[in-house]
Amino acid sequence: MNELFPAEIIGAEAMREFGKKMGAHLKSGAVVALIGDLGAGKTHLTQGIALSKGYTGEVTSPTFALVNEYLAGAGKGGEVDVFHFDVYRLEEAVELLEIGWEDYLDREGIVIIEWADKFPELIPSGTWCVGIEHMKDVEGRELVCERLE
Ligand SMILES: Nc1ncnc2c1ncn2[C@@H]1O[C@H](COP(=O)(O)OP(=O)(O)OP(=O)(O)O)[C@@H](O)[C@H]1O
Ligand SMILES: [Mg+2]
Repeated sequence: MNELFPAEIIGAEAMREFGKKMGAHLKSGAVVALIGDLGAGKTHLTQGIALSKGYTGEVTSPTFALVNEYLAGAGKGGEVDVFHFDVYRLEEAVELLEIGWEDYLDREGIVIIEWADKFPELIPSGTWCVGIEHMKDVEGRELVCERLE
C-alpha cells in the first residue's frame, strides 16, 4: 500500500482508478480512514475500492444512512464485503457505537470510514489513514497515507 503514496490524482475518474489500485492491496479485515474536506473525493476512492472487490452496484456517500453495505453475496458479483461509513453528521462517538461500529470491525470484510478524524478514539490500530487535500493550481488532489500504530 505505502508504495502508492504520496500521489497526485487529477480528475474524478482517476480518483476511482486509484481506489481500485488501493483495493488490490486490501484484504478482509482492513480498515481505511478517509480524511479530507467536503468534496475531497472520499466517495470516489471508495467507489474504486468497492469495484476492485467486484462490487458493481451503486456507491454513494451514506450521509443519512450512516453505513452502506456492499455485499459480495448480494447478486453484484463481489468477492469481499465492503462497509462504507460516513460520520459527517454524527456529533458523539457513542452514536457511531450505537450503529454497531465495533460489530462491523469484527465482521469479515473491509471497513471504510469518511470523516474518520472526527472520532480518532474509535479508529483501530492498523488502520490505513488516507489524507486528501485539494491541489493549489489544478483541480486535483494530493493523497498521503499512514498506517495507524
Ligand atoms: N482527484 C480528483 N480531481 C478532481 N476532482 C475530483 C477528484 N476526486 C473527486 N473529484 C470531484 O470532487 C467532487 C466530490 O467528490 P466525492 O463526492 O467523492 O467527495 P467526498 O469527499 O466524498 O465528499 P463529501 O465530503 O461530500 O462526502 C466530485 O465532483 C468529484 O468529481
Ligand atoms: Mg462522500
